[in-house]
Amino acid sequence: MNLFKLFQSFAFRQDPEKIHDLSLKMFKYFPQLSSCFNTPKLSDKYHYHDGHMQWDFPVGLAAGFDKNAMALDFFARLGFGAVEIGTVTKKPQDGNAKPRIWRHEEIASLTNAMGFPNLGHQIIRQNILNTSHSTCLGVNIGKNKETQISETPSEYAYLYEYFAHCADYITINISSPNTPGLRSLQNKDALKEILVAVSEKRKDFAKPLYLKIAPDLEKEALYDLVDLSKEFQLSGIIATNTTIQHSFGSGGASGQYLKELSNKARTHICQAAKETPSLSIIGVGGIDSFADIHHFWKMGGSFVQIYTAFIYQGPQLLTDIQNEIDKLLLQSGTQNITEYLKSLK
Ligand SMILES: Cc1cc2nc3c(=O)[nH]c(=O)nc-3n(C[C@H](O)[C@H](O)[C@H](O)COP(=O)(O)O)c2cc1C
Repeated sequence: MNLFKLFQSFAFRQDPEKIHDLSLKMFKYFPQLSSCFNTPKLSDKYHYHDGHMQWDFPVGLAAGFDKNAMALDFFARLGFGAVEIGTVTKKPQDGNAKPRIWRHEEIASLTNAMGFPNLGHQIIRQNILNTSHSTCLGVNIGKNKETQISETPSEYAYLYEYFAHCADYITINISSPNTPGLRSLQNKDALKEILVAVSEKRKDFAKPLYLKIAPDLEKEALYDLVDLSKEFQLSGIIATNTTIQHSFGSGGASGQYLKELSNKARTHICQAAKETPSLSIIGVGGIDSFADIHHFWKMGGSFVQIYTAFIYQGPQLLTDIQNEIDKLLLQSGTQNITEYLKSLK
């Protein structure tokens, strides 16, 4: 039995959030623990630039895993090409009542109703500045629960400006299901107001900017989001967050359960963005193998992120993906990921 499986057999008998928090603390103080796992050996051939930013490996850690930027060094050492921290809100907040994460082991899925518990923007920026990290860093920003919708645009603009100087990219999160009213910000007019406010700040300091969207939107709404992203010259779209279409109880579902729905949304988004190569599509939601990544690349996607598959498969997933990439490069006669992805266009 490998070390991860041993750890998992213990961890899966604990409360999901308690063991998550405990593990993060351990990874914070002992980032060298990464060397206990079989991690990818990275080289230039795995680097990819989506036109806005470079990742050293095409797989990143999705938002919500390391909300407070506790263990960036550990995740970089594991081989993640990027870590997206957050969601960060302006004021610290506790989030919803516990328990608020549930495992569904038979289908390698989770549901969560966290509601953005986080230490708030000031402490989190300090955590970033205090931690050494060598990987691309994304900061995912959201609104506080009690923030009125009318104050939301200025709050996003404030957070953009605050983190633009210490992040490699910023993600506007308007798609988590556990903050009342948040997903209504995906509505064209509401989102436009946010993008107007953030764009003003972006004129002074431009950072790659992505929009994270829900998998539950209809095709027309997804096309509208692509139009808005083009209009405001966003770097791309991160598709998708968790789904509310399930019968597990409250919260949003992720992992295998989400795969089909998320993939459907990504297909529409890639189709709508086809003629706009400057708009990069980052895939997340149910991605749990290289086959999923390859499928996404063939649709025109770029980087991917994982959360739930990492809980179920651990660091070995990154090494498995690396091995499959090696095979693909050999079979296709291409030298690196950049060349391979170009060959698909
Ligand atoms: C416990 C948990 C907490 C999450 N918290 C956030 C968050 O704070 N912000 C966010 O944008 N997404 C959050 N997500 C969503 C993930 O980033 C990701 O979009 C989603 O889980 C789908 O990917 P997956 O199927 O690989 O897990 C969270 C997911 C889980 C399971």
